Amino acid sequence: MNNLRIRPRRLRKTQSIRDLTCETRLKSSMLIYPVFVREGNNIIEDIAAMPGQKRYSPDKLPVILERAAKNKIGGILLFGLPEHKDECASSAWDDNGVIQQAIRLAKNEFPDLNIIGDVCMCEYTSHGHCGIIKNGCVDNDATLEYLAKIAVSQANAGADIVAPSDMMDGHTLAIREALDSNNLQDTLIFSYAVKYASSFYGPFREAAGSAPSFGDRKSYQMDIRNSREALKEAMLDIQEGSDMIIIKPGLAYLDILKSVKEKFLVPVGSYSVSGEYSMIKAAALMGWLDEKKIAIESAISQARAGADIIITYFALDLAEWINNGEI
Ligand code: PBG
Repeated sequence: MNNLRIRPRRLRKTQSIRDLTCETRLKSSMLIYPVFVREGNNIIEDIAAMPGQKRYSPDKLPVILERAAKNKIGGILLFGLPEHKDECASSAWDDNGVIQQAIRLAKNEFPDLNIIGDVCMCEYTSHGHCGIIKNGCVDNDATLEYLAKIAVSQANAGADIVAPSDMMDGHTLAIREALDSNNLQDTLIFSYAVKYASSFYGPFREAAGSAPSFGDRKSYQMDIRNSREALKEAMLDIQEGSDMIIIKPGLAYLDILKSVKEKFLVPVGSYSVSGEYSMIKAAALMGWLDEKKIAIESAISQARAGADIIITYFALDLAEWINNGEI
């Protein structure tokens, strides 16, 4: 075959040619690490369903922040796990709550690390739903004022970015207005604009103790069968003022990620959720998959589909591999 001018295999010839010409590159600055912070002192606790992930009391957070800062990851996403839960999630907007303590500590000790607060009510409500219950349902508009309070409280504690994960209609607008009227114009909103009612969140609910005590989240999180609806949700959050948006889950929703990325002009984050992490860990523990290679391939797939940012429980490992030149 001497008449073959175009030989795609030439571009695959050696590792250095492949590295030179590859279309997708992972950077540690695009990775966000989710961290669970629980009340108490001197606690680092295993999460059974997520081997390798822990719950930290605020004083123990530096253990993880040091690794995050050293590897120059894009940020950490903090989830608060309070002792006290009630109907209206009062620990979530308590200026001395566990998440506010964690944010203050992180910002004081690591001022250059982006600190993101997850804004939701499910970890803080006695019923485990993401909002205020009225007549057995999560009431959209009653919830908005609480989300706004939570966001303002986190921003006042020093959060650079707030990330509302509740899926209430109008959440970004309510939060933007509240931030602005509290002189917090510079706090970014990274909204979970497209969040499906996914079973991939199972291990997180064990980690955060946030499973709903009745019903499910299908009246506010999205129907897994829909894709045009994702564009509508993204459009609304962007119109309301989201600076950047999250698509969640990650790997099973790459079609959604790609179509949202093509249509809109804001940075797009892919959240590779707890179930994705636990599946890889479990298969690796059984010796059936190579954990490191799968974690890398999973992150690359999300970047290739258009993720500017990847939120992943492998963020610190990936960053270390990137910085060691292994990726
Ligand atoms: C809170 C929230 C959840 C996740 C992120 N924020 C759980 C849920 O909606 O049930 C899931 C993250 C993960 O599974 O890693 N609303």
